[in-house]
Amino acid sequence: MRAVVIGGSGQIGGWLLRVLTERGHEAVGTYSTVPFDGLVPLDASHLAESANWLRAQAADVVFYPAGFTWVDGCERDPARARSANVEQPLNLARAAAETGARFISFSTDYVFDGKAGPYAETDAPNPLSVYGRAKHEAERALGDAALTLRTTWVYGPERQGKNFAYQLARALREKGELACPSDQFSTPSYGPDVARAAVLLAERKVKGIVHVAGPEFLGRVEFARALAEAFGLDPGGIVGRRTAELGQGAPRPLRGGLRTPRLDALGPEFRMRPLADCLADFRVQLAEPGDWVRPLFAK
Ligand SMILES: NC(=O)c1ccc[n+]([C@@H]2O[C@H](COP(=O)([O-])OP(=O)(O)OC[C@H]3O[C@@H](n4cnc5c(N)ncnc54)[C@H](OP(=O)(O)O)[C@@H]3O)[C@@H](O)[C@H]2O)c1
Repeated sequence: MRAVVIGGSGQIGGWLLRVLTERGHEAVGTYSTVPFDGLVPLDASHLAESANWLRAQAADVVFYPAGFTWVDGCERDPARARSANVEQPLNLARAAAETGARFISFSTDYVFDGKAGPYAETDAPNPLSVYGRAKHEAERALGDAALTLRTTWVYGPERQGKNFAYQLARALREKGELACPSDQFSTPSYGPDVARAAVLLAERKVKGIVHVAGPEFLGRVEFARALAEAFGLDPGGIVGRRTAELGQGAPRPLRGGLRTPRLDALGPEFRMRPLADCLADFRVQLAEPGDWVRPLFAK
């Protein structure tokens, strides 16, 4: 396959590029504001220019792990949230379709209201936040012509060091404590496994909505403790607080998370590894950071 990854500088995008290359595919990745070697600059908000660029790539498949991913930022700037998470991917999905390329976008369990998670693909969305509503709108607009992969609480080694595991490690090292919501539950998903599943799904030309998430349903505090222990940090500084006390900008689905019946039905190759195996892999990757992995405490 010839693949384009819009957002190759991001967490999932970086892993997509790595997995695609390892599996013998040709892959071109883009960045918007954070350049890495080998990536091409592309700002999806420049609609005509980015569509022209994409058409010229003559790709078989376009992955779109991009957009405005800061949930509280979306709540403060709904216009930007809709533009980045609906209009821009739709613009590039249309450009992809014009050259016969398949389009793969990434959505979230925040399309659900969190009353009864973890959720299957057949459960009815009811987003609580601006971010969740934009993602749900994009899912519906892309429809069954595209593959929309929903995931949640993505963690693991990455090049920008933004995900929760890095935030936790830095907070524990620098401040000795981190307040975590005690009433938010989900299914933490290991970035390298999410990317691997996405590439396998692309190879099989799967379309529609597919949940890709880790197998355990657990609370944020329990997840934070598991990460701290994996990194050899004192989990004693992890403090549980109710979401209502934390003043997060956007409402969160409290019992969120994703079940993965469609993925599981595709066979053992698609299995998402358990948390303990992923944490062991995370430690191995951190021991040899290299180009793809930022050390936990790098500034
Ligand atoms: N992380 C999670 O826990 C999680 C959970 C559920 C769903 N998702 C979804 O999965 C996808 C990937 O998430 P992630 O955590 O990998 O995100 P991320 O690390 O924040 O990466 C986002 C990527 O989008 C790029 N980007 C931002 N604005 C852009 C623009 N105007 N034009 C082109 N590219 C732009 C960024 O480029 P620069 O960094 O170079 O600016 C970056 O490469 C997103 O759609 C997100 O909503 C993530």
